[in-house]
Amino acid sequence: MTDMKQFLTGLPKVELHLHIEGSLEPELMFEIGKRNGLDLPFDSVEAVRAAYNFHNLQEFLDIYYQGAQVLLKEQDFYDMTMAYLKRCQAQHVRHTELFFDPQTHTDRGIEIGVVFQGITRALKDAQAQWGISSQLILCFLRHLSAEAAMDTLEAALPYREHFIGVGLDSSEVGHPPEKFKAVFERALTEGLLTVAHAGEEGPPDYIWQALDLLKVSRIDHGVRCAEDDLLVKRLVDTNMPLTVCPLSNIRLCVFREMGDHNILSLLERGVRVTVNSDDPAYFGGYMNENFLALLEGLQLSAQQAVTLVRNGIDASFISDARRQALHAELDAYVKGVDLSSLN
Ligand code: HPA
Ligand code: ZN
Repeated sequence: MTDMKQFLTGLPKVELHLHIEGSLEPELMFEIGKRNGLDLPFDSVEAVRAAYNFHNLQEFLDIYYQGAQVLLKEQDFYDMTMAYLKRCQAQHVRHTELFFDPQTHTDRGIEIGVVFQGITRALKDAQAQWGISSQLILCFLRHLSAEAAMDTLEAALPYREHFIGVGLDSSEVGHPPEKFKAVFERALTEGLLTVAHAGEEGPPDYIWQALDLLKVSRIDHGVRCAEDDLLVKRLVDTNMPLTVCPLSNIRLCVFREMGDHNILSLLERGVRVTVNSDDPAYFGGYMNENFLALLEGLQLSAQQAVTLVRNGIDASFISDARRQALHAELDAYVKGVDLSSLN
């Protein structure tokens, strides 16, 4: 078991579902709030953590948007992003694709360029210092209007070289993918890739819509696909990746406990599932904690762990050369290890 834990934590990993605002730890939230002269509605770091007791997605989102309010300056976005990338370095995450929510900031009067500059400067530094590659994905807040999403895309286009795709996050139920068909069409004509949160709390029909109307390259979460056999067949037949976030799903009560999670049964049915941390500062862990939780709750095998990582590499928005390099790094790590002996 100890060997297995070591094996999991040392695996060279990729992360494909990470909201950078969800990586803001309470300590850094306080530090940034203080230097910006802001009063937080909490007395201490402990009080912030104690408030992280969610029963559904909306309860989390309310506190997550509140936490992001400390971010005002370019340096704030840089520090938040760099703190996450340091965790990546410590946890052997070799490639990461980060979501950011520009509307959370522009609606508070912050220039979108400030957000882009702070995040991308950190991404560049992490590439130079640690060889961590990355991509940015701009997410639209689905509880806001389709017009606001279109305005956000327009405002972001001067920074087109800094992001690879667009996504859809925030309150899912009542805000189906079809609401954003026009803005996703526009993004596709700009050569952007598309992804969408679907089937986290929302029904399988939202996953169908994301596939057919938004032409997504990946589904974020997607765990409710299991309620629709035809949909599972579509996902398997098209090799469509799901960016699954185990600890998030437990903390937001999508599943009651890790033993009930369907990630490994989807894997065994041939769905290209991957492991990700979503909002690690809020959900109790980064990539390694997610893998360890799968070991603990679902008796994840070493072979399954390697397949999950390979799925992530295959589902990444990267060049063929980088994909080959990541596979080679994983091959080198696994070489000589008797995977069955770890189980
Ligand atoms: N779902 C929807 N919106 C989000 C999430 C999530 O898991 N995390 C941050 N915004
Ligand atoms: Zn998410």
